[in-house]
Order: sequence, then structure tokens, then C-alpha cells
Amino acid sequence: MSDSMQFVVQPGGALTGRIRVPGDKSISHRSIMLGSLAEGTTYVSGFLQGEDCLCTLNAFRAMGVEIQGPNAQGELTIQGVGLHGLQAPAHALDMGNSGTSMRLMSGLMAGQAFDVRMIGDVSLSKRPMKRVTVPLSQMGAVIETTAAGTPPLQVKGGQTLKGIHYDMPMASAQVKSSILLAGLYAQGTTSVTEPAPTRDHTERMLRGFGYAVQTEGNKITLQGGGKLTATTIDVPSDISSAAFFMVGASIAPGSDLIIEHVGLNPTRTGVIDILRLMGGDLTLLNEREVGGEPVADIRVRYAPLKGITIPEELVPLAIDEFPVLFVAASCATGQTVLTGAEELRVKESDRIQVMADGLIACGIDAKPTPDGIIIQGGQLGSATIESHHDHRIAMAFSMAGLRASAPMTITNCATVNTSFPGFVSLAAKAGVRITSHE
Ligand code: S3P
Repeated sequence: MSDSMQFVVQPGGALTGRIRVPGDKSISHRSIMLGSLAEGTTYVSGFLQGEDCLCTLNAFRAMGVEIQGPNAQGELTIQGVGLHGLQAPAHALDMGNSGTSMRLMSGLMAGQAFDVRMIGDVSLSKRPMKRVTVPLSQMGAVIETTAAGTPPLQVKGGQTLKGIHYDMPMASAQVKSSILLAGLYAQGTTSVTEPAPTRDHTERMLRGFGYAVQTEGNKITLQGGGKLTATTIDVPSDISSAAFFMVGASIAPGSDLIIEHVGLNPTRTGVIDILRLMGGDLTLLNEREVGGEPVADIRVRYAPLKGITIPEELVPLAIDEFPVLFVAASCATGQTVLTGAEELRVKESDRIQVMADGLIACGIDAKPTPDGIIIQGGQLGSATIESHHDHRIAMAFSMAGLRASAPMTITNCATVNTSFPGFVSLAAKAGVRITSHE
């Protein structure tokens, strides 16, 4: 991928005022998928116009779904075609950088009458897909991967799927969702047990579209053969995007920032719990419910942080926030220890190794372990950081720049647009001294 976008951050800013970060990525993906497969017209507002969600949108357009928008306000109108109304796409579906698109769509595509090929960018093309193709093939799906178990995926249509029970070996909402979405097309009952709670947006949104889903403890069950009924979806701001600002305000002296309208689904709030355990000063204001998801404004004030041992049960609830939490740990007094987080090694990059390399380059004592990291807080120096086509690495080091001893440069930052279009201008508005350069 040719990507010459660089960010340069001058140290010393403070984060103040009120900001609103873009819409939730997980909810935006699912709004397109379920809206397309529903009967009737679904209206979406607050849709994340990041490249990942646009990959999902373009995939459904390529399969004949009429989607108007998104306009500048993130409003979309989806003319649902029903569960059996998709048409064969003329080309391979390009999922770009998006693991969520590819893994969730694998489940949906497994139930179609036609063949589909799914491809991805340099990062996605290295990511493991057997975690979905193995359970889907137990349901009767026929999906080919490369010998390494990576994309491209070739999904053979016209299969009869049958419901299974799947005991997930890892805590993954993408795997859970892929199986449940295939279960819409399967005969009988499909159920999944998860080793730890993971984000439950699929279950919530299926119910919002009138589809019965049972959750009993760690087991989620649905029956095939139902239908989805169009609805209206108001997408809250993404807590995973807000997390960069939560950490930025926590580590930059003088900060007092309000982040508005943030989705606070309890399967996503680990970052708030972890920052509070570290001594962070976060207050929830104006708590309310929007479209079946809890939402609040979050006030974050600077506070001296201390190192902690991160409770393992919080790991799946903060899985996307660790790059920036490692930055918080670097600015904390004492040692932070993370365990039980081997999933970080198979994200858009190996986030344990890539973060450790970057922090070490900045003079921080960071020791990667097979399933986590040990970070000793200290003075961040400055370095040139390679983001490895991983949006969250680029944004995490942008926040590290607030506390660095000299300007920080981050390279290959174009993938920030996958989840957070407008990041640089919003960060600059909040008080980060950041510029982007081609
Ligand atoms: C997502 C689930 C998570 C997360 C990803 C989005 C989702 O992945 O990292 O950014 O929307 O279901 P895993 O479920 O594989 O941990």
C-alpha cells in the first residue's frame, strides 16, 4: 500500500473544550448488514463514514442493495431486500483493512445462493480467518482460504446450512457474530458460548430488527428461518475513538475535556474502568439510552496516573483500546502489567510487538510477553514511529506526543481514515499540537 501520510506532534498541549468523535464502527457495520437484509426501509443516523464501514456499504451495494447516503450528517437510507434478496456481485468484494467486514460477512455469505470472493489490504491479508471458517464449515459452509488460513476467501454458495452449538476457543465478537449471522440462514438452532463477555451489538441489533435472540449467561442462541423487520438506528459516538482523547486528557497537564454522546455499552467500557483503576479522573454526565444502547458525555480531567495490574476480565471489554492504554501506562508512575491479551497479536498489526517497539524507541522500558506486556512508566522521548498500517497505533502515538520530550513523527497514517476520519483536525481542535503531511 502506498501511504505517505505522516503525523507530527509537538509536545505540551492540553485538551480542553467539548468534542464529538465519529460514530461507532461496530454498530455502523451491523446497521448496513441488517438494514440490507431486512424487509422495509431502515434509516440510520450517526453512521461512521470511515473506510472500514464504507467497505461494508459498498459490498451490499455490489449485491444489489439500494443505499442512499451517507450525507454529511451520517444519515443513510437502506432499502432492505430481505434475507434472500441479495444478488451475486460482479466482482470480488474488497474489505480493505476491515476484519469486522470480512469475518461477519463470511457468516452471511455462507448462506447465499451465489459464490462470493472476498479480498483485503496488506494488513487484512495477513489476519487469521480459520477462526470463522472452521465453525462455519461445521454448519455446512464451503469457504476456501489460503494455505495459511488468510484471505482471500472464496465462499461457495448454494449450501444448506444447519445450526450448530459452538464453544468459542477465544473471546471474539467477530467470531460470535459470524456464526450467529450464518445461523439466520441455518436449519434449526444455532448457539455460541463465549469464554468471556464480548461486545453484544449483533445480539442487540438483531433484537432491534425484531429477531428473537436468547442470551443465558455466556450462551447466545437463535433459530434460523426468521425475518428482519426494518427499523431506525441512531449510532452513538465510538468509545474506541473517544479512548484516545480519554487518555490524552488524562496524561496532559491542564486538560479538562468533555467528549459528547459516547456509546457506553457495558461490553465496551473496560477503558473507563482501567483508567479509573490507574487514577484517571473520568465523570459520566447526562447518561441516557439511545436506540437500545446506553450513551453519556464523558468529562476527563488531567490526573497523575499510577501503574496497575490490569484485571484479565477487563481485557475483552477494552480490546481495541490497549494501544492507547499502553501510552497511559508509559506516563504512569510504576509498573503496568497486562496478561491474557494474546488476541492483540492478531489485530490490524501485532499490537503487543508494534507498541513495544514504538515505546522502546521512545525510551520507555516495555517488555512484550506472549499474552501481554509489562510497562514501566517513565519520561517519553521522541521517535519516528511506524504505524504498520494500523490506525490505532498511529492515533495512540499521537497522544504519546503530548508528553514526549521533543516532536514525535508517526509514519504511514492513512489507515486512520478506516475508523476515524477527521482525527487530526479534531485532535488539533481539542488542543493536541498535531499536523499531517503527505
Ligand atoms: C469487533 C470486534 C473486535 C474488535 C473489532 C470490532 C466487532 O474484534 O477488535 O475492532 O465489531 O465485532 P474481536 O471480536 O475479533 O476481538
